Amino acid sequence: MNNIYLIGFMGTGKSTVAKKLQRFLPFQVVEMDEAIERVEAMSIPEIFEKKGEDGFRNAESQLLSIIAKENNQIISCGGGIVLRQENVDTMKNSGTVVRLDATPEVIFDRVNRNDKRPLVKGKTLEDIKKMISDREEAYKNAADITVDASTLNVDEVTSEIVKQL
Ligand code: S3P
Repeated sequence: MNNIYLIGFMGTGKSTVAKKLQRFLPFQVVEMDEAIERVEAMSIPEIFEKKGEDGFRNAESQLLSIIAKENNQIISCGGGIVLRQENVDTMKNSGTVVRLDATPEVIFDRVNRNDKRPLVKGKTLEDIKKMISDREEAYKNAADITVDASTLNVDEVTSEIVKQL
């Protein structure tokens, strides 16, 4: 199976890079968060509010297991996809896992631009640093390829991924 999974903390640019990558590969782009919103017929903040984080994670894992059965997709994953080992196994068994990394400062600046991410709403830079560091091990273990999305621009990140695939 040759899917490409883009993982990384919120605000590392997974969705933008997924679209750019499509110029190099004749693959379909799958936006996990948008797909979850369609399946649940609710926005991400509404899902968190009505079903809690666990309900969101269940929907996310269920959808991933379905998506992973198809081939030739660039899948932009929600930042918390690595929090369940079953998801990491599913991704590793069905494609290449590409991690986008960025500094807490860059992430903090980007995630505060809209209200779509309930887990970082109202959080300080220090809170974000703690969340990133709590997840570091999980991202590291899941990634086949890691690209620094703080110093490189979107085009550079994309070519770096293509080079390393
Ligand atoms: C989450 C990241 C979000 C979304 C949800 C939870 C996380 O996706 O899945 O708000 O736990 O990191 P993005 O990384 O696309 O913002």
